[in-house]
Amino acid sequence: MSPASNFWWGVAASAFQIEGGRTDGKGDSIWDVFSDEGRLADPGDFTCDHYNRWREDVSLMADLGVNAYRFSIAWTRVLPDGTGRVNQAGLDFYSRLVDELLANGITPFVTLYHWDLPQALQNRGGWPERSTVDAFSGYAAVVGRALGDRVKHWITHNEPWVATVLGHIEGVFAPGTKNWSEGLKAGHHLLLSHGRAVKELRESSPGSSVGIALDCRPASPASQGSEDLAAHRHFDGFRNRWFFDPVFGRGYPDDMVEAYRNRGRITGLDFVRPGDLDMIAVPIDFLGINYYTSFAISVGGEESEDTGVAPGPDPPKGYTEMGWAITPRELTEFLVRVANEYRPAEVLITENGASYSDGPDEAGRVNDQRRIEYLDLHIEAAREAADQGVPLNGYFVWSLLDNLEWVSGFSQRFGLVYVDHTTGTRIPKDSFYWYRDRIGSTAGDAFYRSG
Ligand code: FCB
Repeated sequence: MSPASNFWWGVAASAFQIEGGRTDGKGDSIWDVFSDEGRLADPGDFTCDHYNRWREDVSLMADLGVNAYRFSIAWTRVLPDGTGRVNQAGLDFYSRLVDELLANGITPFVTLYHWDLPQALQNRGGWPERSTVDAFSGYAAVVGRALGDRVKHWITHNEPWVATVLGHIEGVFAPGTKNWSEGLKAGHHLLLSHGRAVKELRESSPGSSVGIALDCRPASPASQGSEDLAAHRHFDGFRNRWFFDPVFGRGYPDDMVEAYRNRGRITGLDFVRPGDLDMIAVPIDFLGINYYTSFAISVGGEESEDTGVAPGPDPPKGYTEMGWAITPRELTEFLVRVANEYRPAEVLITENGASYSDGPDEAGRVNDQRRIEYLDLHIEAAREAADQGVPLNGYFVWSLLDNLEWVSGFSQRFGLVYVDHTTGTRIPKDSFYWYRDRIGSTAGDAFYRSG
């Protein structure tokens, strides 16, 4: 394939996981409330204190040599009640961050929604309510107008599958509801709000590039038996196609609508109104893919979609501390599949990384060789996909910092930089220096020629 003109080497983060700083007019999000209710292994009040240490973090990134930083805006820092009153102090925080990034030659990739819905909107029904779509589009307009002169890369939503399923169907993530039909309705509104936000951002941030970050779980059938094949097809529909298909203009997959109906989860798609599917399918400039692991699927219980445990087809190259199998080949295969089936204009790996709890030794060094190996395997796997024709144009490590891994709290460390969550002290790990060298070593490679 032809070389990318400006390959993005980046790191990714999200507001709730790093900022702390429930101050200066910030309203509560559903994750603040989840935290206050003691539903996280560690509270989310301080996390990495990025709200106060953002300059230090930008300087770490400058030292790392990345040319892109993906971060999310806390909706409630900007609009404490979700709609209406704008909190200028919140906008100023992000405005200063953007300026500092640009001054350091780092391009901001801004995610509007990384799961932290304003609690005020949750109190009015949250994502299952269609009015939340209007609220999101208003929020997109406010942020676009404030930052759109300098931010030219936008991601509307992060992983709508997680917000839909873990948040509304399985109830393990905020807001913690467990209801299939409300969940799928929430998912539809998330996708609809994506389409609306793309339009808002194109207006308020002319010339910008807008996309969405979809998580994926490549899967393969555990055997070629017809039951496993059917279970695999169902899993792929549940986990991948339900989101990829509508974003790329195919609507919701018929086989899944029927399966959900047969299982009594929905009576139909009565929440889909005329024009919705066109709005969801508004052309995007790039597709973000978040990739961590894959599954092999065998037939399982009726209520369990995620029936597979053993990854395949290759034996995994070990497991990270999340318990996730290391399966880089499935990244290559999934990227090729997505490129062939959906024809995205451009693909960015918007998250990829590994949880290992290695901490500082007596000399203060953090030897995290296993993370280095994980990242190396996946960067190579992504490159392999590009060699097979995938229009890959960026790779973002999850994450710059050891942050708050949602309900798992601080027990899972994904950072290139070790963080002491009591003091906020940061220590670059061996993987930080490795990534810096890796980026540097590609300078002479035409494929990665960076702008
Ligand atoms: C993804 C999330 C991100 C982080 C990683 C480990 O699903 O987008 O916030 O938690 O997983």
